[in-house]
Amino acid sequence: MDSEQNVFDDPLFFNSYMDLRNGENFNDLLEQPAMNALVPEMAGRRVLDIGCGYGRNCMDFVQRGAIRVLGIDISTRMLNVAMKENPAPGIEYRRMSMADLSMLDERFDLVYSSLAFHYAQDFGRLMRDCHDLLVDGGILLFSQEHPITTAARNTDNRYVRDDEGNVFFKVADYPSEGERHVRWFVDDVVHQHRTLSTIINAMCDAGFVIERCVEPKPDRHAIRRLEGLRRDLVKPSFIIFKARKGDLEK
Ligand SMILES: C[S@@+](CC[C@H](N)C(=O)[O-])C[C@H]1O[C@@H](n2cnc3c(N)ncnc32)[C@H](O)[C@@H]1O
Repeated sequence: MDSEQNVFDDPLFFNSYMDLRNGENFNDLLEQPAMNALVPEMAGRRVLDIGCGYGRNCMDFVQRGAIRVLGIDISTRMLNVAMKENPAPGIEYRRMSMADLSMLDERFDLVYSSLAFHYAQDFGRLMRDCHDLLVDGGILLFSQEHPITTAARNTDNRYVRDDEGNVFFKVADYPSEGERHVRWFVDDVVHQHRTLSTIINAMCDAGFVIERCVEPKPDRHAIRRLEGLRRDLVKPSFIIFKARKGDLEK
């Protein structure tokens, strides 16, 4: 676990991220509404939230009727906020990396993850672990940065405007998978770039049946609250998958 990045425990990054989440932001105006629309019936369910952050989704799940929510995250700072701001009898927060999911010996009806899987080093293993952790017919619901967004190694000046005012987004390095080092509050934040086909095939190979794929698009109400969302009319920031555990053909 030590070789893994834990940038959310960097004090400068953490404070900047919390400031971001406390204002109008892409998560709350774009990604979360699209995720919420796909959350299945929660009454009596057991949920694993991978990269649970400050636990707002965990709290939402118990409020919707989930009987057990395990929220795991690699960041102690994020978990401290979760335990302080979003505690509930049905929720357990645990410091753990998603690379260590095979150490869990319980089963869940829903494995959920919001904007954490682009930090996973081994996506194939992650999908197999998620599959193993679900009951038959259980649901995997996750969002991550869109591969169009993670593709380019050089992220300077990615939006360009032509003489007629049309805006374009520069895509580069798309087929070349692996680490991307970006500046996000601090230098050298590592995201993993994977092509769409790699993501889809890893899910299928693990035994998932994909039920839904969503590329959230901002509506005019959201754009009125946060003008920067307009750029998601040029290209998507996020991609969401909802999949069901099926049986692998022997
Ligand atoms: C963008 S935040 C999202 C937090 C939360 N899911 C939400 O939507 O508010 C990503 C989270 O993933 C966590 N994370 C990053 N790498 C991780 C890893 N290898 N294992 C577990 N959590 C990880 C971070 O610490 C952070 O809390």
